[in-house]
Amino acid sequence: MLFAQHCSGCHGKDLKGSEKGPPLLHKIYESSHHGDAAFQLAVAKGVRAHHWQFGDMPPVEKVSPDDVAHITAHVREQQRSVGIR
Ligand code: HEC
Repeated sequence: MLFAQHCSGCHGKDLKGSEKGPPLLHKIYESSHHGDAAFQLAVAKGVRAHHWQFGDMPPVEKVSPDDVAHITAHVREQQRSVGIR
């Protein structure tokens, strides 16, 4: 699974975070605050640390925009299942 392969190392296999990255199952990542474009940007360009103390997220290579769309859909589904919309 794309998320497991490329993102779970830092964001946790259940999206609840790890010692290297924050949970995406979190209110600050609801779609009104971090829309799907934020996911595309994060993967393509990386993220400068601003919400957390984990350091910067490096760009994730070899993940296409189409892959990111699939990953984002998975994240949204999980978010909805815990009431984050
Ligand atoms: C090497 C660790 C690491 C990997 C791998 C990683 N991330 Fe991140 N990610 C982070 C960290 C750390 C932050 C938090 C930066 C902050 O706001 O302090 C973050 C933040 C984000 C954000 C929020 C962006 C924003 O605008 O604030 C999104 C979306 C995201 N990651 C998606 C992904 C996706 C999707 C993948 C897999 C393709 C992924 N990340 C892989 C470490 C990682």
